[in-house]
Amino acid sequence: MTTHLLDPNIREDLERAVDCLRGGGLVAFPTETVYGLGADALNPEAVGRVFAVKGRPADNPLIVHVGDQKGVERFVSEMPQPAIALAEHFWPGPLTLVMERNDLVPDVVTAGLDTVAIRMPRHPAALALLKAFDGGIVGPSANISGRPSPTSAQHVLQDLSGKIEFVLEGGVTEYGLESTVIDVTTATPAMLRRGALTEEEIERVIGTIAVGTPELERRSPGMRHRHYAPRSRVSLIPRGDRGAMLAMLEQARRQSLRCGVLCHSIDVGESEQNVRVIAFATIQELARKLYASFRLFDDLGIDLIIAEECDEAGIGATLMDRLRRAAEPVKLP
Ligand code: TXA
Ligand code: MG
Repeated sequence: MTTHLLDPNIREDLERAVDCLRGGGLVAFPTETVYGLGADALNPEAVGRVFAVKGRPADNPLIVHVGDQKGVERFVSEMPQPAIALAEHFWPGPLTLVMERNDLVPDVVTAGLDTVAIRMPRHPAALALLKAFDGGIVGPSANISGRPSPTSAQHVLQDLSGKIEFVLEGGVTEYGLESTVIDVTTATPAMLRRGALTEEEIERVIGTIAVGTPELERRSPGMRHRHYAPRSRVSLIPRGDRGAMLAMLEQARRQSLRCGVLCHSIDVGESEQNVRVIAFATIQELARKLYASFRLFDDLGIDLIIAEECDEAGIGATLMDRLRRAAEPVKLP
């Protein structure tokens, strides 16, 4: 199979994407967070193919993307008050809500859970596709499971070329990190995955939520698997600790390791042989380009990525979550 790029601004291209989805095919599409791997949410066979091409564990449920409120009502039995408030505020946008599902949703989508995750994305190409398709589209990140999420059409092709029918070309994504996942089925809503919307932004709308307890990790199937990580080893350096950074680089040099450095406040100097430095002006920029940087370092055959930590406020909390996961040693089964 050859994977073709489509231009969402050309009507015939959008129609080809919709026809493909209707026929059970797979179409990757841009969102404002990362690219998603789309299939008809009501077609269990097509959804099964999504798991197969990603190599995704069957116990990790998918997000159903919808284009409007009518779309939400198709899959959800009831929308609790906090969900209504959050949806009004943040949809379309980088927010995913876990709600009670109805009987229409195939088990393969929810991994057998009695809840379903719903998101209304804001990217014009995603909304145009959803509108034209007029149904729910599952959309896990369009990467091979375990690799960094794709933030450009090129990243999608790196992982999935030859395995899916189409990629809608929508440029580089705006946030570069996934949507924030909030479970609104419990008395106190809970953040199951940190993401592009910050804890502070959510709490401004619905008050205090639960974040980061071990019980929440258990309720969040996706967070159990190694995730969001490059192939290379990742080491973290405290924010601003130039001494620790230089010491680690020196140690790596003695072992002849090729290093990739990600920093935002430490001055590491220029790239040189065996050390590739990417310095970001802000942590927002680091967030936007984190996964692209991981992929670049993998392509360069880097042995060790050394990343500077950041303050855990706002998007910094999401960034630290992803950096820590990337730095976790690979667990043997
Ligand atoms: O930004 C995003 O959310 C992107 C774009 C394409 O929309 N999608 C994405 O999907 O990141 P994925 O499959 O890579 O991550 C979905 C997350 C996983 O952690 C999964 O476990 C969780 O959402 N999830 C899905 N359904 C759930 C449910 N019913 N209960 C709890 N967690 C759920
Ligand atoms: Mg993913």
